[in-house]
Amino acid sequence: MEQKSIVLRLQHAKHFNELNEPDQMLLQKAVDAASRAYAPYSGFKVGAAVLLYSGGIVTGNNQENAAYPLGLCAERVAVFAAMAEFPDQKIDSIAITIQTPEGGVSDPVSPCGACRQVLMEYENRQKKKIRVIFTGETGQAIVVESVSDLLPFSFTAGNLK
Ligand code: THU
Repeated sequence: MEQKSIVLRLQHAKHFNELNEPDQMLLQKAVDAASRAYAPYSGFKVGAAVLLYSGGIVTGNNQENAAYPLGLCAERVAVFAAMAEFPDQKIDSIAITIQTPEGGVSDPVSPCGACRQVLMEYENRQKKKIRVIFTGETGQAIVVESVSDLLPFSFTAGNLK
């Protein structure tokens, strides 16, 4: 319960149509990306869209494998692709959403711990916050202004010194 109230203080939930226009557009790119996911084993399709400071958008989706642990989450596919292609650009935001066989999931689906750690790396690298917008298939979108809100006390390059 206490944990939940901390989360709610950090996060800002809005209905999809209350999001500003650029966020709605980015989310739409994530919706499109989710529809292209390769998720034959879980059936749980995830889409992510990364907005760069240049205005460019790079998308990703989950890529599963018959050897289950080898699959990769949508967020990492998107962020790695963006940073592979545009290593000198900064990331403004990432939007994340899902598509399930039954549809109607209203709980916003937040990035897994591994993806938070990866996003944190790039937030630290660019020394600028990365906004994270995530939704289910219906209902509210949650907007956080920094990856560090999702991963406090994270392990960073500074810990290696
Ligand atoms: N998945 C993502 O793509 N992102 C997340 O943040 C959580 C989980 C994928 C991994 C797997 O393909 C499927 O969703 C079910 O776990």
